[in-house]
Amino acid sequence: MDINRLQNLKNQAISSILDSKSERELEQIRIEYLGRNGEITQFIKQIPSVKDEKRKQMGILLNDTKKAIEDAIKNQSSIISHQSSVINSEWFDITLPGLRPPQGHLHLITYAIKEIAAIFEKIGFNRVAYPEVEWDWYAFEGLNMPENHPARDEWETFFIQDLSSPKYGEAVLIPHTSSGQLREMEKIKPPIRMLNIAKCYRRQYDVSHIPMFYQFEGLLIDKGINITHLRGVLDYFAKQFFGPKRNSRIRPHHFRFTEPSFEVDVSCGICEGRGCKLCKGGWLELGGAGMVHPQILKNGGINPEVYTGLAFGWGVERTYIMKSGLNIDDIRFLYNNDLRFLQQF
Ligand code: DAH
Repeated sequence: MDINRLQNLKNQAISSILDSKSERELEQIRIEYLGRNGEITQFIKQIPSVKDEKRKQMGILLNDTKKAIEDAIKNQSSIISHQSSVINSEWFDITLPGLRPPQGHLHLITYAIKEIAAIFEKIGFNRVAYPEVEWDWYAFEGLNMPENHPARDEWETFFIQDLSSPKYGEAVLIPHTSSGQLREMEKIKPPIRMLNIAKCYRRQYDVSHIPMFYQFEGLLIDKGINITHLRGVLDYFAKQFFGPKRNSRIRPHHFRFTEPSFEVDVSCGICEGRGCKLCKGGWLELGGAGMVHPQILKNGGINPEVYTGLAFGWGVERTYIMKSGLNIDDIRFLYNNDLRFLQQF
């Protein structure tokens, strides 16, 4: 019996066991050495032919070899099974494309505000911001709506308790952006091209009204401004914001701070002005506009004999939902913050 060969086989077996990476490989090694026709088994089979005095010694040697290989297999097997459980739980393929976290976007009304500001910026209107907690003078009195005037009813105002000024009256949450008109006139001498976008507040809540909403207010004051300029500005905006197929029109109306005053309509985006169940005979109402009342110019320190002005003020949400194809029939959806709704746009 070749003891050196036995020793070599044992070393070979153990080194391939240590290299093996799977249970399958281990099993193959076991068969190769300890299987029915395995290398070590061949040695064991020779034992009966070994001479008496060496047989015991050889028996011990072969048993030890067999046991060493079996132990190595057992050991390696537990290493492999530990590794595979670590791989399964912790290993990941860094070359796989990652999971994208859900990506948000600005609110629809924030987009609308940016768009509106950009449209007016192109024709020279400067975006401004004035207080949302404002004195009565700027919100009402200075706009020809003295205290107790019935026209105020429509503005459904929130008042700030216990805050008033002897000169400017009570404090209110602005019910419209027209309050910015006098602020602008006090600050800047004509020519004025103001775009005031702000949150406005009224005690109202239904499909087309919410207590906090945005308005945008345009004010243009210069020499020789007349209604044709108003028509031009309104039509420019309607085409830019709603699309080239949409038209605008003005209808006589009454506001205390403009003379003459108008209600502005935009042609319906669904029926393209022919008339459908959404619109009134082809038109959708946008908001108010007019030529600045001479008294308002005076209140703002501007001489109405020299300057004239145009103004308009509309709700951002209302204007936004009139875009073609949106089909939003309840303004409150915009602020429920239901992602299923907001992600459609
Ligand atoms: N401030 C008015 C409102 O909230 C809208 C308005 C009407 C604004 C006429 C104007 C205007 O600038 O000229 O209902």
